[in-house]
Amino acid sequence: MLPHQGFSEALSGFTKLNIVILLPMKFSWDTYPRPFVCLAPMAGVTDGSYRQLIKMLAPETIVYTEFLSTDAIHYGAKKTIQELEFDAEAEHPFIVQVFGKEPDHFLSAAKIIEEMGADGIDINMGCPAAKVVSSCHGSALLKNADLAKRLVEATKKEVSIPVSVKTRLGWDCIDDLIPFCQGLVDAGADALAIHGRTYEGKFGGDANWDPIYELKDNISVPVIGNGDVCTAQDAVDKIKNLDGVMVGRGTFGNPWVMKDICDALIHGKEPGEPTVQTISFEEKIPFIIDHCELAVKVKGQKRGMLEMRRHLASYVKGIDGASDLRAQLVRVESVEEVKNILCS
Ligand SMILES: Cc1cc2nc3c(=O)[nH]c(=O)nc-3n(C[C@H](O)[C@H](O)[C@H](O)COP(=O)(O)O)c2cc1C
Repeated sequence: MLPHQGFSEALSGFTKLNIVILLPMKFSWDTYPRPFVCLAPMAGVTDGSYRQLIKMLAPETIVYTEFLSTDAIHYGAKKTIQELEFDAEAEHPFIVQVFGKEPDHFLSAAKIIEEMGADGIDINMGCPAAKVVSSCHGSALLKNADLAKRLVEATKKEVSIPVSVKTRLGWDCIDDLIPFCQGLVDAGADALAIHGRTYEGKFGGDANWDPIYELKDNISVPVIGNGDVCTAQDAVDKIKNLDGVMVGRGTFGNPWVMKDICDALIHGKEPGEPTVQTISFEEKIPFIIDHCELAVKVKGQKRGMLEMRRHLASYVKGIDGASDLRAQLVRVESVEEVKNILCS
């Protein structure tokens, strides 16, 4: 504004220019840059601190929560509602994964999740845990395609954020994968993530990605492959015609792998080049401390440190003196103790 101008005068001159208003872009599976690199939803692992750590190392990552009960969200269970909180600065795109079997509860949970600012909702149709399946949740939906479709429809009904589904190749064989997924897409699913094992296969054997490639050729929405990606080379080898990869256990003790995968898939870096996986344990220590501090910030001192113990054990796996270090780290109660153990 020039010294002699009033505000409205200045503004009227301004409107003659091309004004670009920067509104935050709404997340969409159709427009988010491909290939997608996703952190798999993992109960007991992908809490706020883990998600934020991964985002610090690999900001392009799409992060998912642990699976959360739609019944609990519907009834306003305090602990579950707290799990919906996320760091809006650090965690976009932020996908909330839910499970359940009551369409009405999916509808009301979806509205709450959207109001809390999530970028998307993912429905779990793949968990093989006995307790989950016996309640007709998770993988059990692979045997109930009608209910699976109704859950997608109910979730979509009153929200504008995208709704995806994460599932497996099938219950005990792969024959129904394409018709099952086509039903989900007809019901409104905006993207699919497929773990390359059946329910019967649980976590055994190698993940089979071939049916996922075939699904991609037969379905109109983005398809993300999941199962046994532990290195950037795995991601490069497995992605083929897919829209993205999802990584779970490969990040245990090695969250740096997400940066390697983003570098290779998104930035075209050769996976054979020296990568962050080759950095020394000493260089990793500051990130491990950051992880502890994030855990305490998100979960509080007691619970945060308790939950950190298993991550700390994974971080030292394979290094000299690991068993001695692990024995000390699984008892830590504060970040200071971790510093003393790792830096002494
Ligand atoms: C500890 C743990 C917890 C998991 N929790 C979930 C979950 O909450 N929701 C889900 O869809 N899958 C869950 N999974 C499955 C993973 O998302 C993923 O599909 C599976 O581990 C295969 O991918 P990976 O080989 O990259 O680990 C979990 C897996 C593990 C190991």
